[in-house]
Amino acid sequence: KFSFNYTFFLKLKMQKITTDINLAINSLKIGKLVAIPTETVYGLAGDALNEKAVKKIFILKKRPLHNPLILHISSYEKLREITKNVPFKAKKLAKKFWPGPLTLVLEKKNKVSNTVSAGKSTIAVRVPNHPLTLKLLNSIDFPLAAPSANPSGFISPTTAKHVSSFFKDGLDVILNGGLCSKGLESTIIGFENDNPILYRHGAIPISDLENCVGTIGKKIKDNLNPSSPGMFSRHYSPRTPIILINNLSKYIYQNKDKKIGVLSFENKEGFSLATKHEILSKNGDIDEAAKNFYSALHSLDSKNLDIIITTLLPEKGLGKTINDRLKRAVAN
Ligand code: TXA
Ligand code: MG
Repeated sequence: KFSFNYTFFLKLKMQKITTDINLAINSLKIGKLVAIPTETVYGLAGDALNEKAVKKIFILKKRPLHNPLILHISSYEKLREITKNVPFKAKKLAKKFWPGPLTLVLEKKNKVSNTVSAGKSTIAVRVPNHPLTLKLLNSIDFPLAAPSANPSGFISPTTAKHVSSFFKDGLDVILNGGLCSKGLESTIIGFENDNPILYRHGAIPISDLENCVGTIGKKIKDNLNPSSPGMFSRHYSPRTPIILINNLSKYIYQNKDKKIGVLSFENKEGFSLATKHEILSKNGDIDEAAKNFYSALHSLDSKNLDIIITTLLPEKGLGKTINDRLKRAVAN
């Protein structure tokens, strides 16, 4: 006699955090969304050539339809399938930095829909450098659209758990690739008259890119008509109020009644009075700080604090990227 097995039903429905890449592949092939690990942050992935899957991404992320998605491919050779008129300097950058945290904005072919590109004639694309995700990309014959796996405006996820805390429903499979090794989003480069322009600071310092192709133009603060629509000020924000100040110790001393979280770069000062303290790198190592950055913010944000206080890092190398994220995190 037929009996409804509720536990089995629940297990089927339950979100899986898994390393089973076949499960991920099969889900993607039938148009479902899967969270994927990359070296930068986790992505919320779907078949970029499947309109239904693409629309699910916008809905689940609550992403405005005018903000285009970024595409992930398995290798440089796949680039010609989705883009055209690739400038010489783009090729040079791709060959040098892929797989890796460099996103190029290039003219799209028609097979990539206007939904993906949000009506633009260009698309953002990169080859991510994560063994699980590269294996996955090599097993499918479509590119993956995968914006960061956070609701629009919130902190980017650098662990499978972060993703799971954001999306309880609507996401069945999270491919677990551990803590992201870079911990900051990719650097985005667009082209104007074939000249490279920086659209977003990211995990590759701009100086490394300039060593490859010469001077790169900057187009970062153009908030009214941004070349990269994701660059509207407020972004990457925790739910807890967060402020940038110069003197952390003084603030703590003057606000003893508050539950304060401190996010600091090095371990210079003692913040014994602070409720919670996250040090990005005890020895002041910038790569380590980058890797810990979002994770530290997620952690502080989960502690029911009244406020998170933090300071800017030295404005060089990846410090520029972290400062960019901090300024957006505190923006209104
Ligand atoms: O590291 C990363 O780039 C991660 C991982 C998952 O690959 N992805 C990521 O995606 O950060 P997302 O969507 O959070 O940021 C991509 C940015 C957005 O700000 C979007 O506006 C911009 O890329 N973008 C996408 N297509 C564009 C286009 N055609 N022109 C200019 N900017 C574009
Ligand atoms: Mg994002």
